[in-house]
Amino acid sequence: MPRLGVGFIGSGFNARFHMQGWTGVRDADILGVWSPDDKGAKSAAAYCRALHVGDCTPYRSIAQMVADPAIDALWLCGPNQARLENVEEIVDTIKRGKGSLKGIACEKPLARNVAEAKRVKQLVDSVGLTTGYLENQLFAPHVEAGKKLIWARGAATTGRPYLARAAEEHSGPHSPWFWMGQMQGGGVLNDMMCHSALVVRHLLTRPGEPLSSVKPVKVTGHIASLKWTRPAYAKKLKAMMGPQVDYLKAPSEDFASLTIEFETAEGHTVIGEASTSWSFVGAGLRLSAELLGPEYSMKWNSLDSGLQLFFSREVTGRAGEDLVEKQNAEQGVMPVVPQEHLAYGYTDEDRHFVNVFLGREKPLLTFDDGLEVVKMLMTAYQSAESGKTLAFPPRGLDTFTPKVAQGTWKP
Ligand SMILES: NC(=O)c1ccc[n+]([C@@H]2O[C@H](COP(=O)([O-])OP(=O)(O)OC[C@H]3O[C@@H](n4cnc5c(N)ncnc54)[C@H](O)[C@@H]3O)[C@@H](O)[C@H]2O)c1
Repeated sequence: MPRLGVGFIGSGFNARFHMQGWTGVRDADILGVWSPDDKGAKSAAAYCRALHVGDCTPYRSIAQMVADPAIDALWLCGPNQARLENVEEIVDTIKRGKGSLKGIACEKPLARNVAEAKRVKQLVDSVGLTTGYLENQLFAPHVEAGKKLIWARGAATTGRPYLARAAEEHSGPHSPWFWMGQMQGGGVLNDMMCHSALVVRHLLTRPGEPLSSVKPVKVTGHIASLKWTRPAYAKKLKAMMGPQVDYLKAPSEDFASLTIEFETAEGHTVIGEASTSWSFVGAGLRLSAELLGPEYSMKWNSLDSGLQLFFSREVTGRAGEDLVEKQNAEQGVMPVVPQEHLAYGYTDEDRHFVNVFLGREKPLLTFDDGLEVVKMLMTAYQSAESGKTLAFPPRGLDTFTPKVAQGTWKP
């Protein structure tokens, strides 16, 4: 059996989710990790070894990782603002003849705006790399099973689905850079709408057909700051994230909604509705999706996990995330999401892209899809800023940067 040696760029929250997910991946080992934070890289490498997902060691640089013949593919899990420079270093190393790769997989978003995303794609294309765009929710077992059954039973006998809904909501991200529009590229729309915008399109796409068979034609976006610019919460955020996160001076949106009108290959209009929030307070991260057609519907809510615990007010302890990602409480009735890496799709996603880079499967998502998602997000910002529904793609998309990303947004 051929095996794939994999290196990780970034050793934070997301990289560790992939590492957990790797326990369900065959024929590939995580052998390397690089991040500018030495301690983080060392501890992520130790985490991989403890999980038995590879004899992982930290590397001194991206170039050193690319140059190692044991590393066949990279998973890009650094922060958004480092995406382009990370890709530049990878491609430069390959161009100098110092190393080669079979493929590269990149976390969402592919980049912070269309110009950057095009540059990322152009760079990897210039060295002929196979690409994978990492959108875990498409691989979430509930989404996969629901889509398959809805299309096989409901759509096959009564007609295609016409409405898909998706939402991702939590109480706010874990690292300061997410909150800083000029670093991250936007607020919650840029951070989380990439998932929901693609989930609705994926659900509306007939299995086996490309996403391009459901073409976006009109986009309406809306953004707002509902919670974190309230003075008391802006102060709290600064205390939690540091003085550089000042929502009274440079806020990002903490709520976004998006309506996409699609045209199908047969000329039907179908609708995708997506919403995302950093101002949602519930048990923890809530992912949801719906797909509706003439005689059927599906719904998924990740907090309806099938396991609930109850802790009386006598039960006290440290705040944690041991029940669910972005957990907000440790008392009362609490849902638990066991094996979150599996439930959110990381395991199946990573297994798929390992198979892609080993030449066994065609990629479900490539950097072309990542670029298309960035175009959708930038159109949503453009629509939100103008207060208008826009035909997709709108004029000026290639050079557009959201006001939130420029640090000039006034909610
Ligand atoms: N699929 C998902 O649901 C999901 C969830 C979280 C994050 N993400 C994405 O994953 C990426 C990483 O997010 P995270 O949650 O791990 O963030 P994080 O803040 O937890 O970790 C960021 C990591 O990147 C490293 N880093 C810092 N500067 C870097 C540089 N110049 N080059 C490379 N690495 C650098 C840090 O040392 C750290 O290890 C982001 O693009 C984010 O949008 C995706």
